[in-house]
Amino acid sequence: MKIIRTRDYADMSRKSANIISAQVILQPDSVLGLATGSSPVGTYEKLIDWCNKGDIDFSKVRTVNLDEYVGLPKNNPCSYYYFMYENLFKHINIDLANTNIPNGMEPDIAKECLRYDSLIASLGQIDLQLLGLGINGHIGFNEPCDIFRKSTFCVELAPSTIEANSRYFNSTAEIPRHAYTMGIGSIMSAKKILLVVHGEAKADILREVIEGPITTAVPASVLQLHNDVTIVADEGALSRLSR
Ligand code: GLP
Repeated sequence: MKIIRTRDYADMSRKSANIISAQVILQPDSVLGLATGSSPVGTYEKLIDWCNKGDIDFSKVRTVNLDEYVGLPKNNPCSYYYFMYENLFKHINIDLANTNIPNGMEPDIAKECLRYDSLIASLGQIDLQLLGLGINGHIGFNEPCDIFRKSTFCVELAPSTIEANSRYFNSTAEIPRHAYTMGIGSIMSAKKILLVVHGEAKADILREVIEGPITTAVPASVLQLHNDVTIVADEGALSRLSR
């Protein structure tokens, strides 16, 4: 794992955006795996800025998002579709037809999981997968559990995730209890992985991810087995590493 230490959130965002930017400049038809949450917002802001200045061209890029809440329509401000549209897609020259997010409104779980897996397969390999880190070590919505899932599945969200994500909802009752998420297998199949982490609140879990045992109890620890992972994290998030 390559660890890039940054001063703060802004520095983390700029450096991670530089890595994504280099990917798209070197390979204009890249398949990007994208993430939601507060961690990548600054990264997306930089990409928007550089795209508008003509430095990055997203016209040939295809994207596949990690996850989506079950039961939220695209026009719900808490849905990840809405998040991606508002925080990235509507500001850049990407073809929306080339963007992909699980359909949270599909009630047939088996059908949606199969559709998303076929879609991921049809894109070929993900060239660069961007990830945030859940406070409990989740990536996408792969929560701590007994097994690593290979492909897309419908997950019951952990209480700590519901609590952490409650800040986006009017009340806890409104938070969906389930989500569709890409499996660990699909994430690990990406050629390159970029994990962005900031803030002292994630320092303990990030230490476990980097230095702890590889365990389903800390899903992101599986990234230790990938041969091209870059972690861009600020001082606070890296403050508990032993080295
Ligand atoms: C959600 C998303 C994850 C994200 C996590 C961390 O649970 N499903 O993909 O990494 O939040 O969010 P934040 O970056 O806001 O801490």
